[in-house]
Amino acid sequence: KRVGVLISGRGSNLAALIEAAKNNDYPAEIALVLSNRPDAAGLTHAGEAGIATAVVDHKSFAGDREAFERALDASLREHDIEIVCLAGFMRLLTPWFVDTWAGRMINVHPALLPSFRGLDTHARAIEAGVKLHGATVHYVTSDMDAGPIIMQGAVPVLSTDDEKALAARVLGVEHQLYPQALALIASGRTRIEDGRVVVSEAA
Ligand code: GRF
Repeated sequence: KRVGVLISGRGSNLAALIEAAKNNDYPAEIALVLSNRPDAAGLTHAGEAGIATAVVDHKSFAGDREAFERALDASLREHDIEIVCLAGFMRLLTPWFVDTWAGRMINVHPALLPSFRGLDTHARAIEAGVKLHGATVHYVTSDMDAGPIIMQGAVPVLSTDDEKALAARVLGVEHQLYPQALALIASGRTRIEDGRVVVSEAA
């Protein structure tokens, strides 16, 4: 399956996906890296791996979200993309874009959903005093961070943790989890039933 990865910044999850996809047995190929920021550091990972890149700068659409998303969609189609991975992509997507890619677009979120949707998850987890935190890969629906959950990984929250230490521990889980979840999707082993993801055994 041809995968397009949407990024806005650092791109460490993108790097993890690229690394996993180097394996001959991996069921997906990272065929395009698309950034909404021309200066996203993650674009260099794509360049180094010889992967096509594109920039659709939201700032050049003067607040016209639909036009911005039509340009994203056009770029994905131009590269025959079949699955979209959001990896630190920091723009909210409209129902039009989400519906267009429904069932074919996934995201990694740095918390154990449905806890801590949105931003600043690590600070909020520490503040709440939870003892477990983690990461979730889920299908994207127009309800932000609320789509069907594909995989989750947990880490302990230590009493000595600050936001940075906790974020680093969770990021390690994201880098394990995201390639595994993409492999599940790409090999057609997931289906959505009553809003929940059901995973079938490997053939
Ligand atoms: C990750 O923590 C991801 O879960 C969140 O934004 C961060 C992106 O990091 N949505 P990177 O760009 O993949 O390094």
